[in-house]
Amino acid sequence: MNICEREGGRCAEMAMVCLTDFEEYAKEHLSKATWDYYAAGADECCTRDDNLLAYKRIRLRPRILRDVSVSDTRTTVQGTEISFPVGIAPTAFHCLAWHEGEVATARATEALNTCYITSTYSTCSVEEIVAAAPNGYRWFQLYVYRDRKLSEQIVHRVEGLGYKALVLTVDVPYTGKRRDDIRNQFKLPPHLKVKNFDGVFQETAGPEEYGIPANTLDPSISWKDVYWLQSITRLPIIIKGILTKEDAELAVEHGVQGIIVSNHGGRQLDGGPATIDALAEIVDTVQGRLEVYLDGGIRTGSDVLKALALGAKCVFIGRPAVWGLAYKGEEGLREVLQILNDEFRLSMALSGCRNVAEINRNLIQFSKL
Ligand code: FNR
Repeated sequence: MNICEREGGRCAEMAMVCLTDFEEYAKEHLSKATWDYYAAGADECCTRDDNLLAYKRIRLRPRILRDVSVSDTRTTVQGTEISFPVGIAPTAFHCLAWHEGEVATARATEALNTCYITSTYSTCSVEEIVAAAPNGYRWFQLYVYRDRKLSEQIVHRVEGLGYKALVLTVDVPYTGKRRDDIRNQFKLPPHLKVKNFDGVFQETAGPEEYGIPANTLDPSISWKDVYWLQSITRLPIIIKGILTKEDAELAVEHGVQGIIVSNHGGRQLDGGPATIDALAEIVDTVQGRLEVYLDGGIRTGSDVLKALALGAKCVFIGRPAVWGLAYKGEEGLREVLQILNDEFRLSMALSGCRNVAEINRNLIQFSKL
């Protein structure tokens, strides 16, 4: 049953109450191939699904009678204030969801004053994104290519445009096996391009993977490439895709400024942990030497609260942002962010927290884990 049927067919005035409403709308209105691409997980989708289920296993220990008449959701990431601890994870191809694509994403995140991590695989160029929302706070997500010059060029481009950090995605030496994309023979439609590399790959014939020639990413990437990246940029570097304390320790040793605990929304290795389950050991290892963030499976304000209680400084949403775009572009994404903000504020108040500094591990009922 879709949402219109559930509401007795009152689709036009339908209230969007929670993120799942946007998911149902997107499923209903996007083409099958596009929906499948956004929804995809690797192999049997165990890790993708566990990202959500893991939150349901965690119970809170609310405190009472703490005067929650005033609550403040603001926090900082890399020293910059944002209005609440939820940003936008890098996801590819926003023009598939809404004609204005990443330009709409940039405007919505600027309006809500939060952090937008622009994907390398954007369907608008970084120049267009910055022009659309000149005051937005943005980081740029980077892959390392076999052709290092290509990576170097884009790093200098985004640095010049005022991006505030580089997010190095490290969990894609090869693309995970997403069965529905293979069945659908998913391809970017001819009118859309990976805009940041417009023209760069024109000469290349041969098989394509998600809008760029197959085998463009460098599977030999290793920790020494973090030093290489540091040598070509002055921006803070945040490593996205860490799931173990061993790698978290290496990240600290290599002098990066942040970690995103991420399994790529379950699209890479199937069988890895839910990100919320991996968080605590990483936070314990890092001991505040760098900022720890998380993405994967955040769908409600209480998910945000649980992630912060377990030590995340901020969380990021992937698919829900795309559902917001699919609903109404900039306005739809603003609604998604506003709903999460309101739900987070309410969860904070109902558990006795007046500001993010008061959120800590005492909120988590460990006996139930
Ligand atoms: C992604 N993700 C991703 N990550 C990245 O570093 N670069 C990218 O281009 C993309 N592209 C992308 C496309 C789509 C359709 C999805 C769903 C995901 C991963 C993304 O940043 C993030 O890790 C997950 O989406 C978080 O999980 P949720 O919020 O979707 O559950």
